[in-house]
Amino acid sequence: MILALAITALAYTIITSNTQRVSALVASETTVERGKALFAEGCSSCHGLQAAGTTDGPSLIGVGAAAVDFQVSSGRMPMAALGMQAMRKAPIYDEEETAALAAYVASLAPGPAIPTDMDLDTSTADLAVGNQLFAVNCAQCHNFAGEGGALTQGKYAPNLMAANDRQVYEAMITGPQNMPVFSTLSSDQKKAILKYVQYLRNAPNPGGADLGRLGPVTEGLFAWTFGFGLLIAAAIWIGAKAK
Ligand code: HEC
Ligand code: HEC
Repeated sequence: MILALAITALAYTIITSNTQRVSALVASETTVERGKALFAEGCSSCHGLQAAGTTDGPSLIGVGAAAVDFQVSSGRMPMAALGMQAMRKAPIYDEEETAALAAYVASLAPGPAIPTDMDLDTSTADLAVGNQLFAVNCAQCHNFAGEGGALTQGKYAPNLMAANDRQVYEAMITGPQNMPVFSTLSSDQKKAILKYVQYLRNAPNPGGADLGRLGPVTEGLFAWTFGFGLLIAAAIWIGAKAK
């Protein structure tokens, strides 16, 4: 009797695990199909029906799910008009549609995957290390406080405060537009940088207006122009009165 029970249990587990696997496969296939349809509708005019690129947009073969998630969730894609740079705007696709588009592009060729919650867990990351890594790798374009800055040919590195944790990580692994791909940074180093960006996002401003956090030079310039301007105006006014 025990043998019969054991065999039944074994057969049951095998059968149910198989059907579960099959249904998971079907689900992801329909996600890819859905992504393909959305892509044909909203993206193929610039990126081509097979995502191989046209004169209006680059090939997306091998850019991976992370690049699609970054571009679509930050509203950059679909690009509204061909210009110097895709602007961040309110996303047009919802989360499920974005995931489908990402799954479709990822199905074309392997590329960086969307970061998991574990990739984004900064609880054990070192803020001081993040600060140093940010200064070395990111500050030349985004400014040391993440305020952004101008680049050549009318392009710019954006302020980082609008990007969520996933987008910060995705930017590092996909290198949008003029930004390099930081494949040399380990996952611990990326977490440390992410922790520093999180810190900047919440950094208090005890001095009032931060003047773009450009540092003492801007603050000094501000004091010179307005402070001295006011003093000179006052001196002229007193001089005129005295006459
Ligand atoms: C009006 C034309 C246009 C449309 C529509 C468009 N794109 Fe793009 N896309 C571009 C251009 C141009 C670039 C490169 C410039 C840039 O990254 O700023 C680009 C870049 C990208 C990248 C980055 C590639 C890389 O190497 O990292 C991804 C991913 C992407 N597009 C996905 C999409 C998806 C998904 C859609 C549809 C929802 C879409 N695009 C719709 C023009 C377009
Ligand atoms: C060579 C200049 C350059 C360097 C270095 C650089 N970036 Fe960028 N970054 C850019 C540009 C340009 C964009 C805008 C891309 C676009 O609009 O398609 C960008 C975009 C981003 C975004 C998206 C912001 C948003 O609002 O969606 C994040 C996040 C980001 N970078 C983080 C980083 C981090 C973290 C580092 C350092 C590890 C870094 N960048 C290094 C040029 C740079």
